[in-house]
Amino acid sequence: MLSQKLQDAINEQINFELYSEYTYLSMAAYFQGNDLDGIANFFNVQTQEEHFHTMKFYNYILERGGKIVLKPIAGPEVEFKSALEVFEKTLAHEKEVTRRINEIMDLAKKENDHATVSFLQWFIDEQVEEEATVSKILGKLKYIGEHGPGLLMLDQELSARVFTPPTNA
Ligand code: FEO
Repeated sequence: MLSQKLQDAINEQINFELYSEYTYLSMAAYFQGNDLDGIANFFNVQTQEEHFHTMKFYNYILERGGKIVLKPIAGPEVEFKSALEVFEKTLAHEKEVTRRINEIMDLAKKENDHATVSFLQWFIDEQVEEEATVSKILGKLKYIGEHGPGLLMLDQELSARVFTPPTNA
């Protein structure tokens, strides 16, 4: 059985994963509205990943005999100036996700809840990948600048991204 503290922390993380999904959907809409459908595709795939994360936490609470408590989801930002700004915000957002998961991991370790420590390790590893992916794109955007022609090449590149449910999850 999960402690009340850990159950609350994981329910809070479910809310933040849903907020992440909402945030990336808002970003996808920004790009699609600006005819950059490939970058919009990147963010649509990102929303699917976030939903996958949500359900992974959700199923874990239920598997441990806990209770799901869903709360209102905060509204995402809806005004963006450039692709560069969006990816800077995405990286900051993913760093915040990492910080929150690390906090839950600290709590699970403090409580000697070995099952939760093992469960969270997947997310710790996943966040390394999430931050690296966004960092790489942000690096390219720094060469391209706010509205450079290279944006169309990046749009082409990101149109190929597809959602593949992780097999190790
Ligand atoms: Fe669910 Fe992008 O972290």
